[in-house]
Amino acid sequence: MKHTLISSPLQGFTDFRFRNAFQQFFDGMDIFYAPYIRFNGKMEIKSVYQKDLQLKNNNTLTVIPQVMTCNADEFIFAANYVLSLGYKELNWNLGCPYPMVTNKGMGSGLIADPEKIDRILDRVHSETNIVVSMKMRMGYEHCGEILHAFPVLEKYPIKNVGIHTRIGKQLYKGGVDLEGFQKCIDSTNLKLYFNGDITTVARFEEMAARFPSIDHWMLGRGLIADPFLPSMIKNQTHEYPDNRMEIFSKYHDTLFSACEQKLTGEKAVIRKMLSYWEYFAATFPNAKREIKKLTKVKKFVDYDDAVRAVLECEVAAVN
Ligand SMILES: Cc1cc2nc3c(=O)[nH]c(=O)nc-3n(C[C@H](O)[C@H](O)[C@H](O)COP(=O)(O)O)c2cc1C
Repeated sequence: MKHTLISSPLQGFTDFRFRNAFQQFFDGMDIFYAPYIRFNGKMEIKSVYQKDLQLKNNNTLTVIPQVMTCNADEFIFAANYVLSLGYKELNWNLGCPYPMVTNKGMGSGLIADPEKIDRILDRVHSETNIVVSMKMRMGYEHCGEILHAFPVLEKYPIKNVGIHTRIGKQLYKGGVDLEGFQKCIDSTNLKLYFNGDITTVARFEEMAARFPSIDHWMLGRGLIADPFLPSMIKNQTHEYPDNRMEIFSKYHDTLFSACEQKLTGEKAVIRKMLSYWEYFAATFPNAKREIKKLTKVKKFVDYDDAVRAVLECEVAAVN
């Protein structure tokens, strides 16, 4: 079966700079969901989202914008904005688990309210030509919530439903609920995408064997931790290329330059890069001591030395 791989959005991580750096050095990712557009009381698209979605910043990538809202007017405003840029599809975030969001009836806090989902989708489909896709958890309180939302979604030409196989209350803790995902498959004819904890080729293979009807897979934290993962999945190999560290090093330096362009001051750039290293660390198991040192640096020169030490340590360990 041909598998399609999708970059699951991470606000603060997978902006256009990250997406372009990835695309310059790696293969295998078919589609990139952009992190959500969110409104702040005003009917305007913040400049940071505008920049992230402009076609000139994404010209080698297939990107799908995303919105997080529980308000039809905001949804329609975002839809018209992305249509004006040339996009055809807008993904609706019903997955965000944070109480600041869910307490306002947004993100995964909206899954248990099918009537409201219905009212919003009705207006969006009657007032715009946007193609709508969904990104959901299985519920906020329990995984049965999504099953009650399916009949509403089935009334509309929803392109697909990407499911992060947890409930909102879990945040990112605990395991994914694979039995719950099977129930989703058994309960709807909507096109479902799988999302959650795909961090290795072996894990992908396990999920692909368990859910043979699924051919779209969303990779979030696993993609940041290991940018080689999509091409290894596509090439059905568990082996990294021989020049893995050389490629990673160039990718890292490109990401670093991109952060330098975006942020002001050594501290801010290092802080941002260290947030990526929280994910990268999983694929440098032999350099724990060096990574600990890296997390303490304050200046670019020290950062650079510390990164080289991490890469050299990992190379020495695997050779
Ligand atoms: C820091 C962070 C930011 C996220 N931002 C978004 C977002 O903007 N939109 C979205 O749909 N999901 C967002 N997610 C959820 C991920 O896209 C993904 O669904 C989740 O991490 C589970 O997949 P994974 O195990 O492959 O990472 C975010 C997750 C994290 C950890």
